[in-house]
Formats: sequence, structure tokens, C-alpha cells
Amino acid sequence: MTTLAADLQGRHIVLGLSGGIACYKAAQLVRELVQAGASVQVVMTDAARQFITPITMQALSGRRVWTSPWDSTEPDAMAHIHLTRDADALLVAPASADFIARLAQGRADEVLSLLCLARPIERCPLLVAPAMNREMWAHPATGRNLAQLVADGVQVLGPDSGEQACGEVGDGRMLEPAVLCAELVALFQPKRLLGRRVLVTAGPTFEPIDPVRGLTNRSSGKMGFAVARAAQEAGAAVTLIAGPVALPTPRGVHRIDVETAQQMHDAVLPLAPQHDVFIATAAVADWRPATVAPHKLKKTAEGAAPAVLTLVENIDILAAVAQLPQARAAAGQRPGLLCVGFAAESEDLLRHAREKLVRKNVALMVANLGSATFGQDDNTLLLVDAEGQRELPRAPKLTLARQLIADIARRLAPHTA
Ligand code: CTP
Repeated sequence: MTTLAADLQGRHIVLGLSGGIACYKAAQLVRELVQAGASVQVVMTDAARQFITPITMQALSGRRVWTSPWDSTEPDAMAHIHLTRDADALLVAPASADFIARLAQGRADEVLSLLCLARPIERCPLLVAPAMNREMWAHPATGRNLAQLVADGVQVLGPDSGEQACGEVGDGRMLEPAVLCAELVALFQPKRLLGRRVLVTAGPTFEPIDPVRGLTNRSSGKMGFAVARAAQEAGAAVTLIAGPVALPTPRGVHRIDVETAQQMHDAVLPLAPQHDVFIATAAVADWRPATVAPHKLKKTAEGAAPAVLTLVENIDILAAVAQLPQARAAAGQRPGLLCVGFAAESEDLLRHAREKLVRKNVALMVANLGSATFGQDDNTLLLVDAEGQRELPRAPKLTLARQLIADIARRLAPHTA
């Protein structure tokens, strides 16, 4: 999960720690937030101070840490009011079972719950990252308290599942610092696709020749994964159909792994009609071997190469989706399913993109140079539609993906749901 250096630039985050062994991860969380450009004000309960010292958190955040509501160093002794007035978000990580119970009751008898209660509820969202033993997490009392928090507008992040500090395995691990940081980044993105469903293809396909060899290409999948993440950040429900790539799934995105163009086609076609947008970023192999050898092709004693490899053309997934009735608008109307293609070229971007726009009958073609994008973390995009073209200058792929999502959101028919 990559967070861009400037993603939280200018944001002020109040980070609350309640008592739990996951406090050790809060130190790394402060680092991540600061590296992403945020200023961080740490507040700790007495229980949190049993696990990590305020000095550690002060050194990492560069600010004094608040540990008590009875601090007389502020002239008006009202730190519990002031601390959240300029905050963009209040994140409690870790949020213990006890602290969640306190929040649910609206308690204010120690510094952190007092702060949560006194925050300006309309402009300072409260997020909690639960961290506790799996039995505590599964207890009905915790479930009741969490339901109350959700009803009160609190955003619950996680928890994760896996091996716990106590040696047990199950639900209750605090989300990793990088994931929490990404959740905050997502929180501040405009929700342009709220209520929309977006289907994305990404990565290369792999067309087997025999059980150990195949045809593929140099697509890394980074752009497609960035597009899926940007759509999810914008509030959409996202399904990502991924060819063989070694990339982590963006949080909150439903991922389906495939290998061949045919498998990608078979995964995409039944799902497409249930979506508002189809974004085909995948570098689908144009051809596949006509037959797949059942056993590994062996070298011959004479050193001769294998006999000719016969290739057949793969089905065009994007063109097939664009043929669906949902993708074909009546005159003067916008389609229910907006189709967006990517064109990877080696020269003459605009001409090739325009030709593909027409040939595949899609609303938007996003052109890029294969050599400038494959495996890279940044890129330049050229957006081509029936009206004209617009360049998105060189930038990290996630930045470009967000710009593309903003462009796509403007093209959608008004939401009726
Ligand atoms: N595409 C697809 N299925 C294919 C081939 C391409 O869905 N079998 C999609 C890609 O995901 C991309 C767009 O079509 O969104 C353009 O892909 P590209 O490889 O640039 O174009 P091709 O039609 O394959 O043309 P060519 O390889 O000749 O440039």
C-alpha cells in the first residue's frame, strides 16, 4: 500500500491512544501520518501509558502529548475544547474494548473520551481502530457498543484478523499503520462516485503454451490498481478483475484473479451489466497459442526450435462490453454503463487512441506510451473522446487515477438510486 508524500499535506490529525498492546503500532502510525504531510497531536489515556511512553510519541509527533484533563499549563485550562477545534479528524488507534464502551456511553471522565465528546461533531469526524483479544471482540457487549458508535456517526476501521499478541488467532488485531493512514487519505477524497458501481480490469494476461511457459506482456497492473483505489476512495463499490500481478488489493475493493484473456472475459461479461462504469486498463494479450501442449515442450538433440507456434486472436473484452445493451445509449442520452478504454501505444498516441475510440465504440479512451508506463510509478495520460483531447501531465499513477475518476464522474448520467 503506497501513500503519497503529499496526500495528507495541510491536514491536522488528533491521534488518541487507549490501552492495548497495539500501542506499539501507534508509533509507526505517527511516522506514516507525518511522512504523508499531516501534523499530529497525540492524546493518551492512563492505560495507553502502560504500553508506550508519551516521550516516544512526543518525539515522533514533534508536539507535547496530552495525558490529563487536569492540565493547568493552558491559560484557560480548556485544552479538551481547543485540541479538536482545528482538527480535520480524530482517530483513536488503538481503541480498546473499554474505551469503545466509554464512547458508547458518552463518558467524559478522562482526557480522551472527554475530547471525543467535546469535538465539533459536524466538522471533525471520529474514527476508531479497535484492537483487542478475539473473545473481547466477539462479546455481545462489544458488539452492542460498536453498533451504538456507528449509530452516532463514528467510523469503525477494522479490526483485522490473524495472530494476536496473546497467542490466540482470530478477529481483533488493529489494522496496520499504513492501512490506517490510507483510510485517512481516503476520508478526505471527494465522494464523487458515491452509490456507483465500478468494474476495472488490470494487469497483463498470461496465455499458456505448455504447463510451464506462456505469452504475456510487461504490464505491471499499477495503473489499474490505482484506478480501482481511486474509485473506491471516491465512494464507489469497486470490483477489480486482475491478471497475474503481485500487487496488494486496495482496501475495500473486491478482487477476482484471472490468468488468461478468456478467463478475464468470462469474469467481466456477466458482471458488467450490474455496474455504472467499466474501466478496461488491462493489457489483454491479443493472441493465444491455438493449442496448449499437455506436457512441457522438450529441446531436441539437434537443437532445433519447436515447430511453428500457431496463434489465434483473443476476444476483445472492452468491445464486447461496449456492445451490451446497457452500454448503448439512446440518441441524446447517456448510457447506463459508461465504458472507458486504455490504449498503450509506442507512437502516434492521438491517432491510435481516436481509432480505438471509434472501433471499440466507447465514451473515453485513455492513451499512454507503453514504454513510459509499464512498471513505472508515474505516467502521462491523454484523455480522448468524441469532442477532443486533454492531457494529464506526468504525475504519480494514483494522482492520475484520481483525476481520471473526477473526469469519469462528470460524464455519468445523474444518479437516480
Ligand atoms: N482490450 C480488451 N480485450 C482485448 C484487447 C484489448 O478488453 N482482447 C482493451 C484493453 O483493456 C484496453 C483497450 O482494449 O482498454 C485497448 O487495448 P490495446 O491493446 O491498446 O488495443 P488493441 O485493440 O489490442 O489494439 P492493438 O494491440 O493493435 O494496438
